[in-house]
Amino acid sequence: MDMFVVQGGTPLSGSLQVSGAKNACLPIMAAALVIQGTTRLERVPDLVDVRTLSLLLRNLGVAVDREATGDLALDPAGLHSNIADYDLVRTMRASVCVLGPLLARTGRACVSLPGGCNIGFRPIDLHLKGLSALGADVRIERGYVLAEAKRLRGARVHLAGPQGTTVTGTCNVLVAAALAEGTSVIEAAASEPEVVDLANFLNACGAQIRGQGTSEIEVDGVDSLRAPSKPYTVIPDRIEAATLLIAAAATGGEIQLQDVQPRHLHAVLHILREAGCRLDVGDSSISLTAPAEIHPVDVVAQPFPAVPTDVQAQLTALLTKARGTSIVRDDVFPDRFLHLPELSRLGADMRREGNAVVIRGVQRLSGAPLMASDLRASAALVIAAMMAEQESTIRRIYHLDRGYERLEAKLSAIGGLVNRVKDEPTHLPISLPSDPAIHAGSERKSA
Ligand code: UD1
Repeated sequence: MDMFVVQGGTPLSGSLQVSGAKNACLPIMAAALVIQGTTRLERVPDLVDVRTLSLLLRNLGVAVDREATGDLALDPAGLHSNIADYDLVRTMRASVCVLGPLLARTGRACVSLPGGCNIGFRPIDLHLKGLSALGADVRIERGYVLAEAKRLRGARVHLAGPQGTTVTGTCNVLVAAALAEGTSVIEAAASEPEVVDLANFLNACGAQIRGQGTSEIEVDGVDSLRAPSKPYTVIPDRIEAATLLIAAAATGGEIQLQDVQPRHLHAVLHILREAGCRLDVGDSSISLTAPAEIHPVDVVAQPFPAVPTDVQAQLTALLTKARGTSIVRDDVFPDRFLHLPELSRLGADMRREGNAVVIRGVQRLSGAPLMASDLRASAALVIAAMMAEQESTIRRIYHLDRGYERLEAKLSAIGGLVNRVKDEPTHLPISLPSDPAIHAGSERKSA
């Protein structure tokens, strides 16, 4: 297994390209199940999650290939199964995105329930409610969702749950409604840019979808969808962009991001301005210069257009060294706080209160061995380790590889000291923290 070794204390400085959005391209890849012909997608990031979904789709009979151009080509002509197996689904929750497409394409979908998750309870009841409203017979058997419908019928579907709406649930219902008989109205739909991207992709294939980006999406069902003649370009990853901006702010550096959509990042940019950063925003670029000291800020993570829950952990890391007290609340995943004990190991001063954390900024963090617990928490630990003095190690970065394309290479390209090495058993001498030996760099093989 790989781990990161991070030398803290170096400001980031330079310009980076942002990759395509993981959360946009996964539902679009799944939607290719219902598209006639070969779907070509441009700007698909090379991520473990993309490879996992590719494998799942191949198991169903879809031909999935990375072409020489870098485009991802998907052709479902050879589809021979409608069963998404537990072994793959449990490794990636977004596999549930095949539920709506499989049902719409074959009239029957058998998709494993994903099971536990490190960021809290994540039911899929709203996905099932939405597909039932479209006329599917849905039941749970032996850990699998079984959904059947001879022909889906357009209907009014309401997707609000206790925590608001659902992003991948909206995606599932959207694909099913696109091929249903008649008109559907999806109320309390997610308005995240990734849902809009899926709707735009489906429209490029002949779907009749209006209102994407608002809480009410109207869909006139069509009989079939056909792959567009030109490759479809996936939107830039707003979460990666936010992570890189926060990393630059956290290290007292400066960064220019190219190929971003600033309108997807309004709330995050607002928070960074409040934290004292200077921002220069163009049509598809953002430049950030960090202040001498981060100002404390209060943050509430909520559905789009608010600050995304997927940036909550990174902002928490940033605020550990703010001059004063900040409060970060997560209304989407109230238990998404596994990064707190690890940040404490660096010397952060934090107190959890329900679905919020009160952070009292400290003057310095001190490097330590850390353990990543989930995708965005991993990014938060990388940021915190870069803010800390001396060396930190971060284990279990396989979480990070699920959703960031070569993060260590991008950070290194702008001055970050983040190295990927093979995780070897450590035989540290037992020593007090004041012992310089505990900080001594050891030679490691680069992966
Ligand atoms: C997607 C994103 C994930 C992001 C999340 C919230 C993908 C692949 N993943 O996940 O990165 O953190 O949106 O922006 O796009 N809920 C229910 N019932 C349901 C579905 C969800 O109660 O049927 C609750 C969840 O527990 C959670 C909230 O609704 O509290 C939002 O979840 P949801 O939007 O569904 O997240 P995902 O689509 O799984």
